[in-house]
Amino acid sequence: MGVEIKIEHLTKSFGKQLIWNDVTLTMPAGEICVMLGPSGTGKSVMLKTLIGLLKPDRGSVIIEGTDIANCSEKDLYEIRKLFGVLFQDGAMFGSMNLFDNVAFPLREHTKKSESEIKRIVLEKMDLVGLIGAEYKLPGEISGGMRKRAGLARALVLDPEILLIDEPDSGLDPVRTSFINQLFVDLNAQINATFMIVTHDIHSVRVVPDQIGLLYHKHLAMFGPREMLLSSDEPVVRQFLNAQTVGPIGMSEEKDATELEAEKDMDLPPLPPIPLQLETSNGIPRKSQRPPGEWCRLNGVTPPPGSFRADSILSASAAKSSD
Ligand SMILES: Nc1ncnc2c1ncn2[C@@H]1O[C@H](COP(=O)(O)OP(=O)(O)O)[C@@H](O)[C@H]1O
Ligand SMILES: [Mg+2]
Repeated sequence: MGVEIKIEHLTKSFGKQLIWNDVTLTMPAGEICVMLGPSGTGKSVMLKTLIGLLKPDRGSVIIEGTDIANCSEKDLYEIRKLFGVLFQDGAMFGSMNLFDNVAFPLREHTKKSESEIKRIVLEKMDLVGLIGAEYKLPGEISGGMRKRAGLARALVLDPEILLIDEPDSGLDPVRTSFINQLFVDLNAQINATFMIVTHDIHSVRVVPDQIGLLYHKHLAMFGPREMLLSSDEPVVRQFLNAQTVGPIGMSEEKDATELEAEKDMDLPPLPPIPLQLETSNGIPRKSQRPPGEWCRLNGVTPPPGSFRADSILSASAAKSSD
């Protein structure tokens, strides 16, 4: 059914290098969350902290009443069974075919028979569109197929929480759209809580229920998609619209001279908020809200042209003209 993840005052450093400080957010059960941020802001470190592979300096990660940042190895082992993870590089075993790669968690963590394993592996490979490729080696397939194989492997233990690190890096726009559709359909089907780390602002605009932005060693904002897409907060606005004008520079933060030089520049208008991506069969996901609901409930006027069937196209047009 998906479980809630409550992150409180989470702080992580490596030696003297602070990665992020005092991160507090709640990922609602069954919702799709996306975490954004410039390279090196600690998005992957965040995912690894969420499954207890890395220990934070301070703070807690509460899942079903257990604080996984401060629990015993035994409790951590149990909680980890709730997770499916797709690491940034897919992390496939190069000498194993896709079937054996996907079967690996079942053989490691369960006592299921080989025939039961075969049934589950083929079911998950079917879900991600990889039937027919079971006996290929990871090196023999495209990057997009490797990601989908990694996703099938993340799904075999029926996770309540799915962590996905940059599923779209190295994928062309069409394959990125396919994988986005896959996430939305999967979320409808398994109702797990998703945390997707991505750089692709088009995906961010159409896929998630919640968006977070890590910037300059802290969480700049986390909240419903419509809240961030209508936000005037300079960092959020700049990042979500891929603009050069704003506080974020080539080397993370602009200096005073750079900011002074652009202080009278007009910010481009906020592009329309597109409709959220629907499931393939048109049946709404449990956590999907009607278009414009957040704006209405919070008295926020969305940018002109929002929530129209053609605003997805105008958003991508805005992106390509940047
Ligand atoms: N195990 C580690 N030991 C020391 N430093 C690390 C480790 N993992 C990540 N880092 C550092 O943490 C920072 C954030 O890394 P990462 O989470 O991979 O960034 P992102 O995924 O946002 O691009 C980087 O400066 C990286 O060098
Ligand atoms: Mg990363």
